[in-house]
Amino acid sequence: MNDKPATQTAACSFGEEFRSSDATRSGIEQIVAEMQTHSQKITDIRGPRSSEATQSFEEFMELAADVRGRPLLYPHVGSGLGNGPLIELMDGSVKLDMITGIGVHFFGHSDPGIARAAIEGAASDTVMQGHLMMNREAFDFAKILVDEAQKGGSKLAHAFLCGSGAMANENALKVCYQKHAPASRVIAFAHCFMGRSVTMAQIGDSAGGRQGIPLSTLVDYMPFYDHVAARRMSAGEVSGPTRYIDMCVWHLEQYIARYPKQHACFIFELVQGEGGFNTALPDFHKAMMEVCRDNDIAVWADEVQTFGRTEKMFCFDALGLGEYVDVACVGKMSQVCAAMYTEEYNPQPGLLSGTFLGSSAGLKAGTEILTRLRDGDYYNKSDGTKGRIAHHHKLFREHVDALVKKHPEWFPENHRVHDFCGGFGGMMKLTPFGGEKAPIMKLCRACFDEGLILFYCGHDPFHVRMLPPLGVMQDEHWPRVFEVLERAMARVASEIETSASNEPRPMRKPYATN
Ligand SMILES: Cc1ncc(COP(=O)(O)O)c(C=O)c1O
Repeated sequence: MNDKPATQTAACSFGEEFRSSDATRSGIEQIVAEMQTHSQKITDIRGPRSSEATQSFEEFMELAADVRGRPLLYPHVGSGLGNGPLIELMDGSVKLDMITGIGVHFFGHSDPGIARAAIEGAASDTVMQGHLMMNREAFDFAKILVDEAQKGGSKLAHAFLCGSGAMANENALKVCYQKHAPASRVIAFAHCFMGRSVTMAQIGDSAGGRQGIPLSTLVDYMPFYDHVAARRMSAGEVSGPTRYIDMCVWHLEQYIARYPKQHACFIFELVQGEGGFNTALPDFHKAMMEVCRDNDIAVWADEVQTFGRTEKMFCFDALGLGEYVDVACVGKMSQVCAAMYTEEYNPQPGLLSGTFLGSSAGLKAGTEILTRLRDGDYYNKSDGTKGRIAHHHKLFREHVDALVKKHPEWFPENHRVHDFCGGFGGMMKLTPFGGEKAPIMKLCRACFDEGLILFYCGHDPFHVRMLPPLGVMQDEHWPRVFEVLERAMARVASEIETSASNEPRPMRKPYATN
């Protein structure tokens, strides 16, 4: 990519004339206005419209389960309309959406600007663009990604677009393999998640995700940063984090010595997503990345979940790591996904392609989203001013702290759980019920029934996670979120109490609130 801005060309085609004609523009505006009129009727959490709506929805859900081969985890089928953080479901019920399809709707539901962009995209003859049929939307989208990645000092120079995070990671892995051929090993963190393609399921560290998949990819697992273990390792003059990082460097060097020149890449999920919203000190990642650089191993940042959501557009910039990154992947809130790489990693022709890379509507909506992220006040500034994402993270933590103080009995501490609140930026988690799977799953379902959609993450411990639509969240939304959460937690806690009274077991130690 050269560094000229992607400028709007003068109308030199009938296509351009069609898109900019008064009739087309006013048609689009009419649809957007009509959408807003209906969207504004969605004002708060509510139940289904009527008993008939409930019945026909239940019948539909049975058919859906039949077609799909299993029921949905939540009976969540959208009506196609929402309003900010509120989403309407097919039966007319309305929920407060704090998970947004696992991080897809950063600007909430039925946003007029995003809808306008998507409709403009839909007015193209090419529904799905691909590597042999691109319109300019694909280049506009990629150009913003590359420009923003370079602003923080990374050398990422190219973006190859594709339709899913898993596919972006597949492309990234191929790029790493080709550059370092014949090196065939991959280094990854314990508890990482990278998608569900055959290879990513093997690298991802979840037993369920690779059940029945023949293991053909050679992966060496490193421990992720563990704040509790690191704190405990303090000895004399040397801080615990320093000793923990030194131990991990040693561990990594052992792998490299065991398999000299056989590692093509180290995949970094800078904040682990599915693995439990685990964070690490920037110095931890930096130390690992320096070892990679010294040993000619590609540093590959999987930002599919972190992208857009932390305190900078790219999490590697939020952590000051841009200069180390050779390859990066983005997805989810961007709508269209991408594998990005430096000039050095630009692969030979023939390695990457694909019939489809994304829909024209998705590319237009994605470009609108990237533009807003770039031009808005979401991220921290270099003068230290905090952005909107950091502000909401603080509010989230304050609400969790207040909940813990009010109900210490819901937040028992144990050998796995020491912090009840965590994450980074728009990746937010809380850990009630000792991080045990069964009550946390129950809590997610109880929240859904009460009108709040969220999800879980982690393995052991498990956490309640939120990927809220911070692009539209206002401060006053948080008390509403926590009011519903508290009600759902009370339900689950009372179920636990009832089952405990039927089946005697020792009381858990409550959390000390001092
Ligand atoms: C870090 C990370 N990488 C990759 C993926 C896979 O993305 P997709 O589901 O779009 O294939 C995910 C999805 O959750 C993810 O969190």
